Amino acid sequence: MTTAVAVTTGVRITPAEALVRPSTRPGADYQCNLAMSLAKPLGRPPREVAAAIVAALDADDLVETAEVAGPGFVNFVLRSDWLAARVAAMTGDERLGVAATAAPRRFALDYSSPNVAKEMHVGHLRSSIIGDTLLRLLRFAGHEVVPHNHLGDWGTPFGMLIEHLVDEGWTNGHSARGAEHSIGDLNAFYQQARKKFDADPAFADRSRLRVVALQGGDEPTLALWRQLVAESTRHFQQVYALLGVSLTPEDTYGESFYNPYLAATIDELEQRGSTETSDGAVCVFPPGFTNRDGDRLPLILRKRDGGYGYHVTDLATVRYWTGERGMTDLLYVVGTPQAQHFQMVFGASRAAGYLDEDHTTVHIGFGTILGEDGRTIRTREGGSVKLVDLLTEAVQHAAKVVADRSELDSATQAEIARAVGIGAVKYADLSGNREKDYVFTWDRMLATDGNTSVYLQYANARIHSILRKAGQAADAGGGAPIVLDHPAERALALRLAQFPAAIEAAVEGYAPHKLCQYLFETASAFTGFYENCPILATSTTEPVRRSRLVLARLCSQVLTRGLDLLGIEAPERM
Ligand code: ARG
Repeated sequence: MTTAVAVTTGVRITPAEALVRPSTRPGADYQCNLAMSLAKPLGRPPREVAAAIVAALDADDLVETAEVAGPGFVNFVLRSDWLAARVAAMTGDERLGVAATAAPRRFALDYSSPNVAKEMHVGHLRSSIIGDTLLRLLRFAGHEVVPHNHLGDWGTPFGMLIEHLVDEGWTNGHSARGAEHSIGDLNAFYQQARKKFDADPAFADRSRLRVVALQGGDEPTLALWRQLVAESTRHFQQVYALLGVSLTPEDTYGESFYNPYLAATIDELEQRGSTETSDGAVCVFPPGFTNRDGDRLPLILRKRDGGYGYHVTDLATVRYWTGERGMTDLLYVVGTPQAQHFQMVFGASRAAGYLDEDHTTVHIGFGTILGEDGRTIRTREGGSVKLVDLLTEAVQHAAKVVADRSELDSATQAEIARAVGIGAVKYADLSGNREKDYVFTWDRMLATDGNTSVYLQYANARIHSILRKAGQAADAGGGAPIVLDHPAERALALRLAQFPAAIEAAVEGYAPHKLCQYLFETASAFTGFYENCPILATSTTEPVRRSRLVLARLCSQVLTRGLDLLGIEAPERM
């Protein structure tokens, strides 16, 4: 394509500009809009440029027809024998045609990152889900990925929390109330401590001293702090297990982890002469960031009271993952409200020499989850929604969706309800452009029709049922020649062949919704195939029957793999 254009027009273009996209028009497989954008620089009508591209095209083994359409598109139809061969090659390949990258990179992936001594809420849901998918996608693409969970486990709130624990009779890591305390207590603890801190100046003073003791490494203080972290970690692991997110305590690189690096980080920046003192605080001012009044915005390295905070910790984080761990790409899956923070951290890190030209840093932002009233999701009482409650409710709703369709035993049904419920929450989150807010609606996310995980799961389960009924023939189908005579067979084959492109698009844009959209289109193509192309009916004779079984099985493999990359299970029976 690129060559054809270069030959025809003499204009140098990149492969990206020559992009040929899947077509949404009936009768066309792919479409290219390049002629439209080349018309102007060439001073020729777009249809004429399109015709020249078609005339110069040299892809007879691949393209059946190439035609100028509309104001100057080129529509392509692929050769069915090429498509059949492509699909046949996928059937024996456990990577389903997806090549591992020729240029593997080393990603440090920051996601989930909840705060200690606070229960995880829906705000952390998105980071956990999106991060987990990116981990899977990047690894599948052949990259190295090190996940790290930037726990909020350090800083001023811990002074008041620990002081409150002491008041409540906790000492040296033991609770006066024995082992029965739980994260629920700690959550309430946080609020009580906060209240006391705001109301009682003496308590506030003690809390501040406690922070100094914590940061100074006072052992009894650290013991209490470790207790808080351990308790919270237990809770986070429960949520991750429920959610099917693979983060473990070994992946924790909390704010406290970077504490030993902070002094050196600040020293280096001071030696470079890039720091300034402002209001008694040591700061850097990354270029290009100002508030509405035009004042430059600081990243605070050391507060007036000598304490360190969120800003400098993130600088030390960049320094650590590039300098000590040799990572090439730093990804941060954190809500969009922190966009400016990350841009400032990246700017300052470049200036500080923590990043060179080969490093990339990406803030993978995401929008808010809204309730049906269009505002940030809340409980009926107006509190923030707890993640555990939400996920439990999801499984209960899913049990209703699957129960009345199933002749399966109750344990299997419970398994299916879990896969469907958790899958629905994840898929609802991943299937929209992550930058956008979305409305959390049980009915929509659990609909058995439309772009939902349940729809994909049912399509896959239906294929498994066909394969079970076909028995031996399903295995015998492997290696059978692919017949694409019916338009619905061909449409399914076309979608299946697009799996590698869908993976590439999702990886490239850190955009899981592109994979979701692809899977939905594939499942829809299967529905059309299933309705129009009988597989097991006696009227279907060989070799068509075997070919259809191969297509169906490949479709199941693609759906299962795609869902797995989204962290969603694909039950074989539903
Ligand atoms: N704990 C933070 C929060 O809940 C998110 C941390 C994100 N990662 C980072 N490196 N700053 O808002």
